Formats: sequence, structure tokens, C-alpha cells
Amino acid sequence: MRFDVLTLFPEMFEGVLAASILGRAATHPADSAPDSAPRLSYHLTNIRDFTVDKHQKVDQRPFGGGPGMVLQCQPVWDAVQSVEPLDARPATRIVMTPQGRRLDQSMVEELAQLPRLLIIAGRYEGIDERVVERLAPIREISIGDYVLTGGELAAMVLIDAVTRLIPGVLGDDESAGADSFASEIGGVLDHPHYTRPRVWEGMAVPEVLISGDHAAIEAWRRQQAMARTRDRRPDLLS
Ligand code: ADE
Repeated sequence: MRFDVLTLFPEMFEGVLAASILGRAATHPADSAPDSAPRLSYHLTNIRDFTVDKHQKVDQRPFGGGPGMVLQCQPVWDAVQSVEPLDARPATRIVMTPQGRRLDQSMVEELAQLPRLLIIAGRYEGIDERVVERLAPIREISIGDYVLTGGELAAMVLIDAVTRLIPGVLGDDESAGADSFASEIGGVLDHPHYTRPRVWEGMAVPEVLISGDHAAIEAWRRQQAMARTRDRRPDLLS
């Protein structure tokens, strides 16, 4: 999987993409030879590098008035045209926007099957609608019903959620299937988790978990997951 990110703030991504599981996924492919290409790569492109404005401007005031600034078509279009030919794999175009379809785990699972994602992180009040139209087919994705200062954090959320589903990225290939929302467990919340010590501050772990009875443990976890889901997220069951 190749990720291309088009942004005005590439430095926001650097720490996140280099740290922890994402950094390891891009540098140390677990099941391939040391000198082979990583299964995953992230490529950052600064949209400002494509401006033709003599003051390096990429935004203008909105036609019709109103607050804020709008990212112009030309630098976004030229950035996409420059980045796409850098790899033969076809890119699925995505723009992060609070007006998009809301991201959920089933969308993440679908995106994780694709060979390449090209993600545009918008800033300011928005992107000129004409370039979004011209970039069709393009998926407009929101990470939730709240407004961020820009699409960068939203793009990082998307990249993180997709990356951990790429086979071999998580240490134990099983662990993604048991997550809250995973379609493998029926799109419900995860059960509670416990580890040592058996008693902490007078609170014991549920007895069944130390019984060694695997069928009983499975049944308990399933029941806990359903009870939590009914209590906290009944919408997931309807
Ligand atoms: N940009 C600003 N807010 C956003 C959101 N909620 N999702 C995606 N992109 C955004």
C-alpha cells in the first residue's frame, strides 16, 4: 500500500508517521527480506510547492463573501497531476472534509484492500469546489461530526486506521479481527480486558478469566461485548 498525502503542513505528519507501529510498518517489513521494499510507504507533498503565485499564496477570499479563506484550484490540481505518475499503482483519491461520508470501520476495511490512497488534507474554510469536481472520482471523507482546523489530523486518523489492517503490520495478525467495530465480530464493541495482578486495590479480575475454561471465557466475552454495545451504542445493533 502506498499513501500519498497532499497538505500545506507536511511537518504535522512527520512525527506521527515515523513513530510506533506506523514507523515500523514503513521501515521494517516483518515478513520480507531485509533489502526488499517495505509493504507500506508514506509520501508527503506540500501543496504550496505548486503555487504559481509570486507570494507563494495558495488561498483567496471566498466569492460571495463570508469568513475565512478558500484553497485555490490550481495548486491542488497541479500537485495531484505531479504526484499520481510517481507510481504505477492506480490511486484512489480522497479529500478529508467535514462534509464527507463519515468514516467507520467497514470503510476502513474497504480502503485497506486498495493498492494506493492519495489523500488531500484541506485547510482554511475549504477547497474550491471546482477542483474537487474535476478530480472525480474522489471520495469525500469526514472522521466525525465536529470541525477541526484542517484535514491533517483527519488524514492521520484515516492512515492509522487503514495501516493497522495491512497484513503483517500488527505483531499478531489476529488482533485486528477482535477490535471494537471489526466486521469479523459483527460490528459491536469490544469486551473489557484485564491483566496482572489478579487483585489490584482490592479489585479482583472476573473469576471466569482465570478458570482456564476457554469456551466459558469466549461466552463471557461475547456476553460482555453485547451488554456494552446495548448500553453504550445501541445504534450499532439496529
Ligand atoms: N476537516 C475539518 N474537520 C474535519 C473532519 N471532521 N473530518 C475530516 N476532515 C475535516
